[in-house]
Amino acid sequence: MKALILSGGTGSRLRPLTYTGAKQLIPVANKPILHYAIEAIRDAGITDIGIIVGDTRAEIERNVGDGTQFGVHVTYIPQDAPLGLAHAVKIAEAFIGGDEFLMFLGDNLVRDGVRAFAEQFTANRPNSLILLSRVPDPQRFGVAEIDEFGKIKRLIEKPKVPPSDLALVGVYLFDHHIFDAVKAIAPSPRGELEITDAIQYLIDSGRHVEAHVIDGWWKDTGKPEDMLEANRMMVEAIATRVDGSVDERSQIIGRAVIEAGATIENSMVRGPVVIGAGAVIRNSYIGPFTSISQGVQVIGSEVENSIILQDTVIDCIPTRIDSSLIGKNVHISQVQERPKALTFVLGDNSRAQVQ
Ligand code: DAU
Repeated sequence: MKALILSGGTGSRLRPLTYTGAKQLIPVANKPILHYAIEAIRDAGITDIGIIVGDTRAEIERNVGDGTQFGVHVTYIPQDAPLGLAHAVKIAEAFIGGDEFLMFLGDNLVRDGVRAFAEQFTANRPNSLILLSRVPDPQRFGVAEIDEFGKIKRLIEKPKVPPSDLALVGVYLFDHHIFDAVKAIAPSPRGELEITDAIQYLIDSGRHVEAHVIDGWWKDTGKPEDMLEANRMMVEAIATRVDGSVDERSQIIGRAVIEAGATIENSMVRGPVVIGAGAVIRNSYIGPFTSISQGVQVIGSEVENSIILQDTVIDCIPTRIDSSLIGKNVHISQVQERPKALTFVLGDNSRAQVQ
C-alpha cells in the first residue's frame, strides 16, 4: 500500500500566517502538522509516500526532504493550482500505479493514528473506506447520509442544510477504481474536483464503499481556533523533559518540555507547555496549553493557551495574552513614553483584540 498526502492548497482561512508559509507546516506542540501525518502513515507500515505540493513546494521540500528523517521515501507531486482533492488524486495516478493507497489531508490531525483503518481496508477489501466523525458544525465539511444499516446513501460537500452530523474525516483508502471516478466527475460550483463527488461516483457505479465512524479525536486545522484546539490536544500528551536551563527563581509546575538552549529565568511555567530551543522566558508566566517555538523571547509578560512561532518577541505586555496564534518574528512590546497609544503593523487579515 502507498500513501498520498495533500499538502497543496492556499490556506486562505489561516491568513496572514499562510501568506508566508505552508499551513501544513504550522506547528502544534512545536511539531509541524504535516509531520504528524507522515509519522501516522509510517506507523501504519506504509513507507512509500507521495506528497501533493503547490505554491509552497520549496518550503515543504526543505522541511521534509526525501523522508529519510522519518524512515519513509517521499516523492513530490506538483499540482499547478488547487483544483480540488479529486484533481490531486488524478495527477497522482502515475505515482500510485495499480496499488491501493491511503490518502491523508495534510492539514488533518488524527490523534490515534491510521493503522487500524489500513488494517480494516486490507482485511475487508472494499473499493474504498471512508472515515466519518460526528461534528457540531457539519456544514464546514463533506457530510455523509447513511441508512439504518450504516450504508452510505449520499455524500455532499459543505451542504447548507446538512443531512446528518457525520463529517468526512480527511483520511481515505482507495483501490485503483478511484482513478475512473476522478476522471468521470465534473468540477463543483466552487470550481473544484471534489473527492466527495468521486466517492459518490463509486457508490453510484456499484462499487463497495465502506464507512467507519471514528470515536477518537480528529481535527481539521483549517482555522486559528482549530489550531489552538489541536495544540491543546497534542501538548496534553507530552512527557516532561527539561534539557534547557531553569534558574532557581523559576518554578515548573505540571508537564513541560523545555528544549536544549532554552532559558527560563525568574518565571513560572505551568504545564502542559512546550518551549523550543533557544527560547528565553524571563520574569514571565507561561500558562497551560502553550507552545513557544524556538528563539521566542517572552519578557515580563504572561502567555496562556497560545501558539507563538519562531523568533517572536513579547516584551512587557501588561495584560495576559490568551488564546492567540502569533506568527514568526513578530514584535509585541509596551510603549514606554507618552503618548500611550496602541501601535500596530499587522499583515492583511490579521486580528487583534484590545481591552
Ligand atoms: O478535513 C476534512 C474535509 O477536508 C472533508 O470533510 C471535506 O469533504 C474535504 O473536501 C476537505 O475539505 P476542506 O475544505 O477542509 O479542504 P481543503 O481545501 O482545506 O484541503 C485539504 C488539504 O488538501 C489541505 O492540506 C490542502 C490540500 N489540497 C487542497 C486542494 C483543494 C491540495 O493539496 N490540493 C487541492 O487542490
